[in-house]
Amino acid sequence: MAAKFSPSLMCMDLLKFKEQIEFIDQHADYFHIDIMDGHFVDNISFGPEICAAVRKAVGPDRFLDAHLMIERPDHYFDRFVRAGVNLICFHVELGDSYYIRNTLGRIREAGVKNGLALNPATSFEAVEPYLAEIDLLLVMSVVPGFGGQSFMPSVLDKVEKAAEWRTENRASFLIQMDGGIGQNNAAQCALAGADVLVAGSSTFKAPDMARAIAEMK
Ligand code: DX5
Ligand code: ZN
Repeated sequence: MAAKFSPSLMCMDLLKFKEQIEFIDQHADYFHIDIMDGHFVDNISFGPEICAAVRKAVGPDRFLDAHLMIERPDHYFDRFVRAGVNLICFHVELGDSYYIRNTLGRIREAGVKNGLALNPATSFEAVEPYLAEIDLLLVMSVVPGFGGQSFMPSVLDKVEKAAEWRTENRASFLIQMDGGIGQNNAAQCALAGADVLVAGSSTFKAPDMARAIAEMK
């Protein structure tokens, strides 16, 4: 199965918000919305209002994937649920197993899909205990915080391990990769086992966005 594309809205031209949202609606699969609080990562980006605006623009059927890079996902996730996102992903580095399990469970109870992200420096073993309880595993291929960074091929090993684990354990979570993904490495990511590829700069900074997505596919 071909990988799905989830352009990162953080890299879009905000002066062309409506036009670019409509473009993604036609050419990509998911909408990746990066939420940063200036604490967990050294940057501040979007909040629930932008998620609600995207939901309003695309209608009820499109899949909005919110990547929370914030210190308190347990405190804030319900605002994103109310804004209309379909999936809420947060980072495994944030807390102990009680905190992670409890937050994963609460996100599902709120009626949306849950996801767990891991930074490049975090080992596969850190997420392994939760793989039966998640809908999506996000393997970061850059240190989170900013778009436009270089892809770190060393993380592909974790994608392969996650795909093997999924087969061996008959699990069904999706594997997503995020950071520095473009025409030169999309196939490599998909071959390693990634199902959803986030593509920020390679989509929105391309001279011909439709062509860029077509080439990645
Ligand atoms: C990084 C974000 C990514 C990123 C994607 O912290 O989670 O979604 O902005 O942008 P590119 O594709 O340019 O790395
Ligand atoms: Zn992201």
